[in-house]
Amino acid sequence: MAEKLLRLKRTDMCGELKETQVEQKVVVSGWVQSRRDLGGIIFITLRDRTGFIQVVFNQELNAELFEIADKVRPEYVMAVEGTLKMRDEDNYNPEITTGTVELFASDVQVLSKAQTPPFEIEDNKEISDQLRLKYRYLDLRRPSVQDAFFIRHRVTQIARNFYDENGFLEIETPILTKSTPEGARDYLVPSRVHGGKFYALPQSPQLYKQILMISGMDRYYQVARCFRDEDLRADRQPEFTQIDLEMSFVDIDDVISLNEKLIRRIFKEIKGVDLPEKFDRLTYREAMDRYGSDKPDRRFGMELNNVSDIMDGCEFKAFAEVVKNGGSVRCINVKGAADKLSRRDLDGLVDFVKVYRAKGMAWIIVAENELKSPITKFFTQEQIDELLKRVNAEVGDVIMFVADKDKVVFDSLGALRCELVKRLDLINKDEFNFLWVTEFPLLEYDEEAKRYVAMHHPFTSPMDEDVEFLESAPEKVRAKAYDIVLNGTELGGGSIRIHNTELQSQMFKTLGFTEEKAWENFGFLLEAFKYGTPPHGGMAYGLDRLVMLLCGKDSIRDVIAFPKVQNASELMSGAPSDVEIKQLRELSIKINKPEKE
Ligand code: AMO
Ligand code: AMP
Repeated sequence: MAEKLLRLKRTDMCGELKETQVEQKVVVSGWVQSRRDLGGIIFITLRDRTGFIQVVFNQELNAELFEIADKVRPEYVMAVEGTLKMRDEDNYNPEITTGTVELFASDVQVLSKAQTPPFEIEDNKEISDQLRLKYRYLDLRRPSVQDAFFIRHRVTQIARNFYDENGFLEIETPILTKSTPEGARDYLVPSRVHGGKFYALPQSPQLYKQILMISGMDRYYQVARCFRDEDLRADRQPEFTQIDLEMSFVDIDDVISLNEKLIRRIFKEIKGVDLPEKFDRLTYREAMDRYGSDKPDRRFGMELNNVSDIMDGCEFKAFAEVVKNGGSVRCINVKGAADKLSRRDLDGLVDFVKVYRAKGMAWIIVAENELKSPITKFFTQEQIDELLKRVNAEVGDVIMFVADKDKVVFDSLGALRCELVKRLDLINKDEFNFLWVTEFPLLEYDEEAKRYVAMHHPFTSPMDEDVEFLESAPEKVRAKAYDIVLNGTELGGGSIRIHNTELQSQMFKTLGFTEEKAWENFGFLLEAFKYGTPPHGGMAYGLDRLVMLLCGKDSIRDVIAFPKVQNASELMSGAPSDVEIKQLRELSIKINKPEKE
């Protein structure tokens, strides 16, 4: 008779076997990590999600089992029954959780064989990303890769419990939705029934969650998959997950203080760290002025100094011109960097800021009794004295300048700050520095589209005191919007929403929508507003980013089970792919293939 498929039923997980179980009979199952033949004795290390156990096969005691063990290869799947024994102290293995015990096999069943994998299933191996993602199921067998998914699971679990305790309902919103302008590019899904029409995959549940507030759901949350057809980066994937929430009858402080509690709980439970009761807040203006970024990393200082007043009318044309034309000259003082940065490094940094459209990067090295710099010759002694005082210059410092339009200055010095601490290794990697950035501009001018666009989204409420400028000076209007920033990464963001039709219509007008166009795109929301809308607001976290930072990883790819690569394809399954002509015909679609490069 053929052997029963699963003759040996698992009693324990490999990595969880304990000394208290010594002399007990147990059954474990898993993958063969390694096999060592010591002549007459074979050691097999078996692996499952929880860790490893060493299994011993003794030829003298059981020749039949020994023969089976002899044929086993890495990544075979097997079940082993055996008796747990203490190891000799000399053979303790501190690397694994079960390093003081081993399992003496009394029965085995090989459940499946395995080909030699394209790479060894072991931590700390250099494997190309291409290979890892093509064989992601093998990559995911590696303990260090699995860790992120335990943490990810716990974070969502903590969030679910937290919002549940605070009266939120988890409600699903549609994945096949209506395409609306604003925001990133949509992923479209053709409709078969309505030939030539398309659904859009949601960029976020924004409109639906607002409508749920109008429905009286009061508090909503969702672990929501979102889709945006944007260029990929280390912290951006075309599909990603938000922890998304919305609350009725609230103001900014209500949303912020509730969410501080959640973040505190997550960091306490997962990292064991006590975060402050309240996180720092900076207005957008202050964040830009001091750090050149709306998501500043405040684990270090190196703040920006505005020295435009000192450089106004100076002999250095590049600076004087910029000030005359309404731009600014700003600098950072890189403390004690003089002997850490060579001339070549400085040249390299000039190239670095050029990526952010800076025209150059001037510098002053503060040496003993002299200043080394290509630009000090253009300044008066007074200007130099004033400058050194402004930035608290001391011997050994390097002062770096960019002069340009504010946007270019902020972008380049903001990025330069972060680049320098990386190069000079000044970051405390164990610190979790949280920050709320508030009072974002409601609108920003899009040079290409020649109109204002919403900085957050068109449903964000202006600050009460700024509403009057919506028509006369839109660029002045601040929003009731807030971002939560962790160590220089935008972790999440949200806002208090507009909740009346008139203000929402005014907002669409400012964004250059005709009344007609606004109704065509967002009519369902505008219509809903008419029937009694509670004041409401909320936010969404990028779950992938949160888990990435909790795990100390550099890319959200490491915390997504099946991520996409740079060109938005998924290497394991091969998506996206061609489809049958028949499928296209059903969808009334004709393909106009882009020419091969
Ligand atoms: P927002 O567009 O700021 O707001 O998105 C919220 C958070 O989602 C994360 N995120 C991403 N993560 C990975 N890949 C991406 N491509 C990506 N895009 C965004 C970020 C970001 O902070 N509906 C509003 C929220 C609200 O107002 O309530 C929204 O989607 O961490
Ligand atoms: P130049 O006079 O163009 O040779 O520049 C002298 C120094 O000033 C060089 O180190 C340049 O990188 C720097 N520089 C030129 N333009 C700017 C600018 N707009 N902002 C900051 N530094 C600049």
